[in-house]
Amino acid sequence: MCGIVGVIGKADAAPLLLEALRRLEYRGYDSAGIATLVNGHIDRRRAEGKLANLAAVLDRKPLDGTIGIGHTRWATHGAPTESNAHPHSTSQVSVVHNGIIENHAELRAELEAKGAVFETETDTETFVRLVDHLLSGGLPPREAFAAALKRVNGAFALAAIFSGHPKLLMCARQGAPLAIGFGEGEMFVGSDALALAPLTRRIAYLEEGDWAALDVEGAQFFDARHRPVEREVVVTAVSGAATGKGNYRHFMEKELHEHPAVLGDTLRQYLDPKTLEVRLPRLPFDPARVPRLTISACGSAFLAGSVGRYWIEQLARLPVDADVASELRYRNPPLMEEGGAILVSQSGETADTMAALRLLKEGGQKVLSVVNVPESSMARESDGAVLTAAGPEIGVASTKAFTAQLAVMACLAIGFGRARRELSTLDEGRLTQALLEVPGNAALVLEKNEQIHELAAEVAKARDVLFLGRGSLYPIALEGALKLKEISYIHAEGYAAGEMKHGPIALIDSSVPVIALCPSGPLFEKTASNLQEAAARGGRIMALTDADGVERLSRFAERVIELPKVSEISAPILYAIPVQLLAYHVAVLKGTDVDQPRNLAKSVTVE
Ligand code: F6R
Repeated sequence: MCGIVGVIGKADAAPLLLEALRRLEYRGYDSAGIATLVNGHIDRRRAEGKLANLAAVLDRKPLDGTIGIGHTRWATHGAPTESNAHPHSTSQVSVVHNGIIENHAELRAELEAKGAVFETETDTETFVRLVDHLLSGGLPPREAFAAALKRVNGAFALAAIFSGHPKLLMCARQGAPLAIGFGEGEMFVGSDALALAPLTRRIAYLEEGDWAALDVEGAQFFDARHRPVEREVVVTAVSGAATGKGNYRHFMEKELHEHPAVLGDTLRQYLDPKTLEVRLPRLPFDPARVPRLTISACGSAFLAGSVGRYWIEQLARLPVDADVASELRYRNPPLMEEGGAILVSQSGETADTMAALRLLKEGGQKVLSVVNVPESSMARESDGAVLTAAGPEIGVASTKAFTAQLAVMACLAIGFGRARRELSTLDEGRLTQALLEVPGNAALVLEKNEQIHELAAEVAKARDVLFLGRGSLYPIALEGALKLKEISYIHAEGYAAGEMKHGPIALIDSSVPVIALCPSGPLFEKTASNLQEAAARGGRIMALTDADGVERLSRFAERVIELPKVSEISAPILYAIPVQLLAYHVAVLKGTDVDQPRNLAKSVTVE
């Protein structure tokens, strides 16, 4: 959702900025640009489309200077053209911006009335013109930047450089994350620590409303009320090495193959293989006493939370309300006194989920977040956090982070079940043992790659695809449909298998593959009957099941893929892998941009 970077130091800024932007490209790839000070004057290069286009421009027309800012864009206001690409500059100031300035229209009118001439349709340019106006009025850069901040509303992160001031880089954070990197005689700014990983691991995070003035020696921090503050410098665990593609063709492929390792790393944090007990960190609410939980998140993370709802209700008999964050934040739900909440997010920065977090906290709920980035805003603002150990996920479509979220939700559900005395020690041991077998089973599922590839060849020909599942497999059907849509651009829907007959069955004909998630278990026969109803109407059933389901489903299914037979709690985690793999292969067959699908960005920090 736009990435911003800045450097001030001793080496040429442009190559450093470009390298940092490479690590931020997952946040948006509609356009990119950098600006530096060359002999005290602002100069910039920008290009429409991916970063590679900007790199080509820089090859043709290099940019000198040891101070600069850079941007990779996910368009919000204004088309993704070169003229709308950041940095936005006047002769006095150049700015990169992530997020939205909400009062841009009124500020623009005010500045135009004072004679400002705008060049773009972007909200960012209002901030640039505002700073420019204040500079022209005689304020020094630092004061002009600070005064402009007081006038803008919205959620944003900003960085700015000023003509004639090669020793000053200003930045601010309000609703969108910003990390300050400390080097030796050089300083950095980035949307996240990952961007700065090859440059430095000594990071300070700006807090809400903070702004900072950087020179080569360090940073001066100010809070939202413009008072000088200290911000702790931590050594981040984020490593530059973790972000390569290895021998894989795409990040998504690499990340799919990391499922077993990531699941192992995540589960090991919360399960004791010797005692077969769940060991949860200190939670912000007491699961034995909390009357109700609210689960909220966006996209795939919400689907992981939805599986969690099935588990927590079943294993802990604890009532759960689950809603997507963009709805929850405006739904004004009645919240129970002493209630708890679980927010799920890979990035820990998603704007809607952050808004839900704040609403739930204001409503007196104790908030636990399930996040992948330990230093993220969500981890820091929640009352407690449990971490998924997925490592950096670069492919825009979530894969390993999703299954890691499921693994954490499963551990929470068992822990809650024990705390509420709904599960015996024996139950806990049985469930823990089942989860401990998940990483090995994930490796077995990946061995079905060839069969999934063959299925993908069929699915790639379709215009519409249905995914069906029941119980905790229903959110996985939704995940299958979401993943296929987002990276292959094929229309897909996920349905609860039992809901088919209430409408969607009208869509069934021989052109629509029906991907059925149908492990053996209590709901197997029910799902099989629903599938048979679809098959009777010409539907092409492509079933994922285990050894116990193969014979029954082969009677009417066109294709049956046998996955390992696993316990009920493990099935959603393991069945997520083939549906993600299917989407991947279909996308590759269709030749789409797998890692950077159109119109999307990772870490959606706007509403
Ligand atoms: C889908 C996908 C998105 C994210 C969603 C939430 O493949 O990746 O739906 O799950 O944007 O993002 P996080 O988890 O960062 O809050």
